[in-house]
Amino acid sequence: MKFVIGNDHGGIDLVDSIKEALDELGHEYEWVGTFDKSSCDYPDIAKKACQKVLDNEADFAILICGTGIGMSISANKINSIRACVVTDTYSAKMAREHNNSNCLCLGARVLGTELAKMIVKEFANAKFQGDRHQRRIDKISKLEEN
Ligand code: RB5
Repeated sequence: MKFVIGNDHGGIDLVDSIKEALDELGHEYEWVGTFDKSSCDYPDIAKKACQKVLDNEADFAILICGTGIGMSISANKINSIRACVVTDTYSAKMAREHNNSNCLCLGARVLGTELAKMIVKEFANAKFQGDRHQRRIDKISKLEEN
């Protein structure tokens, strides 16, 4: 699987740990920045990373800001992106199995590095269960039409 990693200045400290988790699982990734701690705006990064998912250049986006919240609000404005802020491993698994999330949002000022790595691994290893969950995803897509 291929991932795209995007972060703002508040998220940059977690990037290396996320790369490490993906390396350990043998997944490919592209890092679209920001690449230093200069202040930047998370919606710009969310847009850039999610576009890679929409263009099928990545299967999933991992977006990191201070809390994960700004990234998730931004990403969820983009049609077909189902972003979730996750702070525990159970939710990471459910985000894929039930919600077919294609965008994991993490808070670098919230999570420790080892927990963040475990969350990424749960998310990456889980599979969407389809069936009744697909019906609900279809209803989410309908909401985008208005
Ligand atoms: C940047 O200071 C911070 O506001 C941002 O990284 C993020 O936490 C917003 O949700």
